Amino acid sequence: MMGGGGASESAYRVLMGVLESRTGQTLSPNRIWRIEMSLKPVMQRHGVADLDALVGALVTSNSRQLLDDTVDAMLNNETYFYREHSVFDDISSTALEHLRKLNAACRRITIWHCGVSTGQEAYSIAMLLAEQDAKWAGWQVDIVGTDVSIHAISRARIGLYSQFEIQRGLPVQRMVRWFDQTDGGWLAKADIRRRIDFSVQNMLTDRPPLASPADLIFCRNLLLYFSLPMRQKAFAKLRAMAAPQSFLVLGAGETVLGQTDQFVASPRLRGLYEPADQQARCATAA
Ligand SMILES: C[S@@+](CC[C@H](N)C(=O)[O-])C[C@H]1O[C@@H](n2cnc3c(N)ncnc32)[C@H](O)[C@@H]1O
Repeated sequence: MMGGGGASESAYRVLMGVLESRTGQTLSPNRIWRIEMSLKPVMQRHGVADLDALVGALVTSNSRQLLDDTVDAMLNNETYFYREHSVFDDISSTALEHLRKLNAACRRITIWHCGVSTGQEAYSIAMLLAEQDAKWAGWQVDIVGTDVSIHAISRARIGLYSQFEIQRGLPVQRMVRWFDQTDGGWLAKADIRRRIDFSVQNMLTDRPPLASPADLIFCRNLLLYFSLPMRQKAFAKLRAMAAPQSFLVLGAGETVLGQTDQFVASPRLRGLYEPADQQARCATAA
């Protein structure tokens, strides 16, 4: 039995197919067993007894809500503030400084968080930049967060985090400076929320709402759930949205090596990637 639960193999196959066609994500065998657990709340909400009944309802009911809820529940939205925190230290001291020099004439910088989940990654950067407000005076700094998950983006927009979530990676000084404690949890202050534009987007098919090409792209812990052809398509999409001289940030376990020729490891900034054609231009100019 595929998922180890009581559902038929064809039910698992249909659900995996739905997830892949809607998001590009492939469920590896070690995540299939989680399907039943992740979908339990959806089955309860929609009054279906088990996975076979859920698949039956998806096929016969034509319910958009059921489809959205099912896809959402199968996504892995794991995230936390300052995840792999040294990345943020490096970006603050190197990438942002580099981009400041590069964009000094237009005084504009666009940061895109692709696969932002419930928002912690974008809030991490927004807080970091807010603390450097004096330095960025007169600059237009756009932070855009996108994710295919409707539920995750609606949570990101609200900016409300439980005690458990707020304590994951966020230093206490930043928590009290940028969040208000409410009955429902810790709410990001308006000054930090207004800095980020969140929207629901499938990065494989949609065009993110960027006012100008992205100077800094975070796409962390998302590509590892794509098959190689899907990942290559994703890299091409990221490249299409990247400024010629820009940086791409991947998750700690992700790389471009053997995956794409659209980006290469940055010779300037350790751990970051740059558009490959930009590299070629630099090499020719040198
Ligand atoms: C594991 S989370 C990573 C969140 C954050 N980037 C981090 O590293 O902490 C991956 C996110 O990618 C999103 N995702 C998956 N497929 C996507 C797609 N095709 N387009 C946009 N977002 C996608 C998921 O919904 C999920 O929120």
